[in-house]
Amino acid sequence: MAKKILVINGPNLNLLGEREPEIYGKMSLTEINSKLKEFARKKGADIEFYQSNFEGEIVEKIQKTKGKFDGIIINPAALSHTSFSILDALKAVDIPSIEVHLTNIFSREEFRKNTVTASGCGGIVSGFGWRSYLYGLFELLDKLS
Ligand code: DQA
Repeated sequence: MAKKILVINGPNLNLLGEREPEIYGKMSLTEINSKLKEFARKKGADIEFYQSNFEGEIVEKIQKTKGKFDGIIINPAALSHTSFSILDALKAVDIPSIEVHLTNIFSREEFRKNTVTASGCGGIVSGFGWRSYLYGLFELLDKLS
C-alpha cells in the first residue's frame, strides 16, 4: 500500500516567495509543494499539504493524523521555538516525523537556536532552503519502506 505523508507548515510560510526572499528564498509554498508531490509520485507515495498560522489548528491537524497518515514532515516555523503543545501532539500521535527548516536555525538569532518541537521528531533537516523538505521526505520514505 502507498505510504501517506502529511506536510505541515506553520505561521507565515504561506508567504514564502515574497517574505524576506533573501533569507527564505524565492520559491512559493505552492512551488515547493509541487516539487514534493512530484518526488512522492516517483516514489509511489501519497502526499498531502497543510498550512496554518494558528497553533491550535496545527495541534488538531496532528491529532487527526492518527490512523490516516504514515509519516509527517513539519516546519512549525516560529512555533518551533515556543510550542510545547505541538511537541506534545507529535508525541501523542507517535507517527514517524521529521522537522524541517529552510534556514539553518542554529546560525541565526539566539531565539531561533532552540527548537522545542524537534524532540518530538525522529530528526531535523535545517539550512538547505526548499531542499530541506525534499531531504526530509527522502529520509521519511526510506524509513517507512
Ligand atoms: C523557519 C525558521 C523559523 O525561525 C522562522 O520563524 C520561520 C521559518 C525556517 O524554515 O527556516 O518562519 O522555520
